[in-house]
Amino acid sequence: MATYSRLPGSVALITLQNPPVNALSAAVRQGIVDTVQRALKDPKVTSVVICGQNGKFCGGADIREFAGPMLGPPLVPMIHAIEAVDKPVAAAIEGVALGGGLELALGCHYRIAHSKALLGLPEVTLGLLPGAGGSQRLPRLIGLTAALDLITTGRHISAAEALKLGILDQVTDNNVVDQAVEFVRRVAGQPLDSRRLSTLPCPPDVDSLLDKAMVKVRQRSRGALAPVACVQALMAAASLPYTQGMEKERELLTTLFNSGQARALQYAFFSQRVVGKWSLPSGASWDNSAARPISKAAVIGLGTMGRGIVVALALTGISVVAVETQEKQLAEASQAVPAMLQREAGRRGLATPPGVISFSSNLQDVSEVELVIEAVFEDMSLKLQVFRHLTSVCRPGTLLCSNTSGLDIDQLAAVTQSPGLVVGMHFFAPAHVMKLLEVVYGPRSSPEAVATAMQLGKRMGKVSVAVGNCPGFVGNRMLKPYLEQANFLLEEGATPQQVDEALEEFGFPMGVFRMSDLSGLDVGWRIRKEAGLTGPGVESTRTRQGRRYSPLPDQVCEAGRLGQKTGRGWYQYDGPGGRVARSDPWVHIFLEAYRAEHDLVARSIAPEEILERCLYALINEGFNILQDAMAAGPEDIDAIYVFGYGWPRHHGGPMFHAGQVGLGRILERLQHHHHNHPDVPHLKPSTLLRRLVAVGSPPVQKWREFINKERVHS
Ligand code: 3HC
Ligand code: NAI
Repeated sequence: MATYSRLPGSVALITLQNPPVNALSAAVRQGIVDTVQRALKDPKVTSVVICGQNGKFCGGADIREFAGPMLGPPLVPMIHAIEAVDKPVAAAIEGVALGGGLELALGCHYRIAHSKALLGLPEVTLGLLPGAGGSQRLPRLIGLTAALDLITTGRHISAAEALKLGILDQVTDNNVVDQAVEFVRRVAGQPLDSRRLSTLPCPPDVDSLLDKAMVKVRQRSRGALAPVACVQALMAAASLPYTQGMEKERELLTTLFNSGQARALQYAFFSQRVVGKWSLPSGASWDNSAARPISKAAVIGLGTMGRGIVVALALTGISVVAVETQEKQLAEASQAVPAMLQREAGRRGLATPPGVISFSSNLQDVSEVELVIEAVFEDMSLKLQVFRHLTSVCRPGTLLCSNTSGLDIDQLAAVTQSPGLVVGMHFFAPAHVMKLLEVVYGPRSSPEAVATAMQLGKRMGKVSVAVGNCPGFVGNRMLKPYLEQANFLLEEGATPQQVDEALEEFGFPMGVFRMSDLSGLDVGWRIRKEAGLTGPGVESTRTRQGRRYSPLPDQVCEAGRLGQKTGRGWYQYDGPGGRVARSDPWVHIFLEAYRAEHDLVARSIAPEEILERCLYALINEGFNILQDAMAAGPEDIDAIYVFGYGWPRHHGGPMFHAGQVGLGRILERLQHHHHNHPDVPHLKPSTLLRRLVAVGSPPVQKWREFINKERVHS
């Protein structure tokens, strides 16, 4: 709703009230319509200020309402009515003015903001475009170039930047409502025509700026519809009168609204928030478990991951002891880490990085810290040795975390004095950039340890997801069948390019083979060797440990091709460290020879089969994970894939995608592929998938409830 009060000096104050972000729900819109009418009719009122309760102007349209029928007064005429008022109306912006919130402010005649406020039109990130006049008013106010940037990226900008761009009339460090009241009193009676943005001309599109932008946006958006529609709306602004531009805005918005992509992106918005409200099978959860404050931490092992983790901690203001036993690595890291920190701090607009880092080759130096993150090689015996050492060196109560990619957290906990204080903190490379953190709880991890790791992740700006302790945890466990299918497809006749193109067309930034070349092919090779699947003495057959196995990636490694780092992998590069993947005749000859050796006849494989085999195998493992209670709900899996594995956000995440495709269809296709490949257990449909189909394929939002009920009854 919105409240109305008349302040001394003839100013009407309208306050939006819808905690926590004063989203423009039907009740708020009705409140605005009513209070604006009241201000208009009240002869004692000469000017109006619109603000939001509890230090937040407005977070935009109420996203929760998008799922149901449209009720209450629509936004567009409401904002028009404000713009048409013949008394000056000012928006007093505190906290946020986002989406419909900024569009409301653009309908006001003046905009005054607190210096800490954030503004933006993030609709594109929800699969929409600014549909309450934002795409038509903003370019009239700040020009096409700046509007294009804000609308197609959806980025939030500071009040200082908004002032510079011309969105704001004034920025203050003081009480913004007081400032706005004083402002409107001063301007009362002045002509308002030039303040009504819809009446101003839009700057023309000189030098075909928008055509060029369209080409770039189409390339970048990888199948996402909203960025393209945003440019189309700006083209309408530049070429059509305002009213027709608004019609185009509405038409584009309707198309987007009815697209599956908007639903997927809105689901992704809420899943990001759902995972913060974690709960464990033990009943411990975000609202009943206290996190410890952490101000001093240590990182053990300063390789690829350790360096990034040190930087991420230091950026959060935590003092870090960085330990590395190899002299050469330590020397390199002592140079590289401060430079990385400086660069990242600069990128985030921080003059000086807040945390202090000290380097050491001595594990004894971690005795005073409150939390340790181990990031040594992925070798259980080495990690056990490090954990034994840590538990004897650290003071009681220190949290001991491992960045292992998939080893057993409980085994590590078992060698410490306080197993309850051991959790996994699985970062993704580069750790100071990637948003995902899997917080792995073992059977003995205490709620306090999980809460502390989750809280620390949040402080570092990560999307932290609590996951159970199983080989590969959630993300890497699901990656295994995906990679496996990609290799089988090569055996059957596909090329690395064909597989990658199908996945990139779906929206992944990189196909599976390009991604493997980037990560280094030796990583998986080492894991397979440890698992006894390959190496000296292992027979080179296509069945290992009772199931279909493709030795292709092992043979590529044996040929010295480890990916980008060696300049050769599934593709060829300009040299070691090269980034541009080019098709390599060696790979094609190698694949032909391999097929001939194993009597395999290459067949032509359609992109649809590539997608089904790779994605449905991955999704199937997601259902197994839910069934095993290693993830609390589909949102957790989807957040992991969107933030850690490049799953295209406009497809929501693998589990959401399964719902969109239809669970019946996924089941049927898995049955089909499993029938054709009975030696591939990952293609056998999961029991949970079958059960969901049997009860009529409920929407993804209902799965958690269904799984919990089943668990209680089993
Ligand atoms: N509608 C409904 N609920 C919203 C919301 C919105 N626009 N914005 C935030 N919320 C809810 C969140 O879901 C969360 O709910 P929960 O407590 O039940 O989990 C609660 O508000 C708090 O949100 P956050 O946890 O995200 O709080 P933060 O303080 O970290 O962030 C924020 C606040 C920056 C406003 C962030 O919530 C945000 O980015 N919100 C979305 C803003 C947005 O995209 N607006 C555009 C909407 S579309 C639109 O306006 C269309 C128009 O053009 C017609
Ligand atoms: P890396 O090989 O780059 O670095 C490991 C570092 O640990 C080396 O510098 C080594 O000298 C050091 N080290 C070894 N024993 C030590 C000891 N006893 N004390 C102190 N330092 C010691 O390895 P990377 O890639 O950083 O991986 C580290 C861990 O992170 C592994 O468990 C890995 O599985 C995991 N991980 C790796 C990811 C990646 O993309 N590289 C992603 C997520 C997790």
